[in-house]
Amino acid sequence: MSDSLLRAQVPSELDTIKGWFNPSDRRMFAWLLQRQLDSGVRGNVVELGSYLGKSAVFIGDFVHPDETFTVLDLFESEAGDADNKTEWSGSYSTLTEDAFKKNWLSFHPQLPVVVKATSDHIVEHVEPGSVRFMHIDASHLYEHVAVDVESAKLLLQPDGIVAFDDYRSEHCPGVAAAAWEAVNDKGLHLLCVTESKLYGTWGDPKPWIDAMQQWLEADPDAYLDWHRIHGERSIRCKIKLPSTPAPAATSTKAASTAAASPAGAAPAARTGRSRSRRLAKDWLPPAVHRAVSKRLNPR
Ligand SMILES: C[S@@+](CC[C@H](N)C(=O)[O-])C[C@H]1O[C@@H](n2cnc3c(N)ncnc32)[C@H](O)[C@@H]1O
Repeated sequence: MSDSLLRAQVPSELDTIKGWFNPSDRRMFAWLLQRQLDSGVRGNVVELGSYLGKSAVFIGDFVHPDETFTVLDLFESEAGDADNKTEWSGSYSTLTEDAFKKNWLSFHPQLPVVVKATSDHIVEHVEPGSVRFMHIDASHLYEHVAVDVESAKLLLQPDGIVAFDDYRSEHCPGVAAAAWEAVNDKGLHLLCVTESKLYGTWGDPKPWIDAMQQWLEADPDAYLDWHRIHGERSIRCKIKLPSTPAPAATSTKAASTAAASPAGAAPAARTGRSRSRRLAKDWLPPAVHRAVSKRLNPR
């Protein structure tokens, strides 16, 4: 794993990409994806709705070399129908595939599979039953998200995980309707909800929920409570990025020097390195942390 891959998990680096991906979900994605890798689970990874690549770049850190990551977005192509076109032209009209690719390549050496289409086309590009993790963050319209649910059910491995964005935002009740319909009527087991996302599996939820409980209860930066829906336990959680105390006295000066320096200039690079080192120690998985440390300080 190169340090360019690991930069995607450093908040200050990832936040150079415009988009939506809050701390709870960064922590939850990292935990779920890394736990699958640690358990030897391999498969494909899919994201519907990548915009400029913020969540995709982050997910990219957890894609094994043997796996395929497929990202799908309309990018600048025409939306599928009139409603979707109105939604798309209002919110995302500056989006281009080139901007996504440029962002991606500043963190990762090779592009994922990039599909420019409406989300219903994902089933033509990914093998059924092959996906271990799928992030659904494309259209906000009920009819489209309901199709995304069917695609996830078809494409996921038996114990694969699906994450729905915006399952409770007032501006997109269609996502809520489709996501809860999956739980109520289509056999999706709810694992947890965060402020922005709903996570579930069509496999056995118990091992995931037990492990998640252990992790969250031991993590000083996490809060959880319990909920029972259709007789099944699920978790609501909020998770912070670990706080990184600023080094005394020099921190303000270092920060302003870094802000004023062109990218790659020595002072900014040094500040970035020590910050990366602290962040890595605080919240990266141990194997990843060792790789970062080695890269930042080869001696
Ligand atoms: C909320 S943004 C995705 C945010 C992104 N995951 C991030 O990390 O910032 C939603 C994206 O879905 C795309 N989109 C909207 N309707 C779509 C559809 N029917 N099929 C595929 N993509 C769609 C938009 O072009 C937009 O880029």
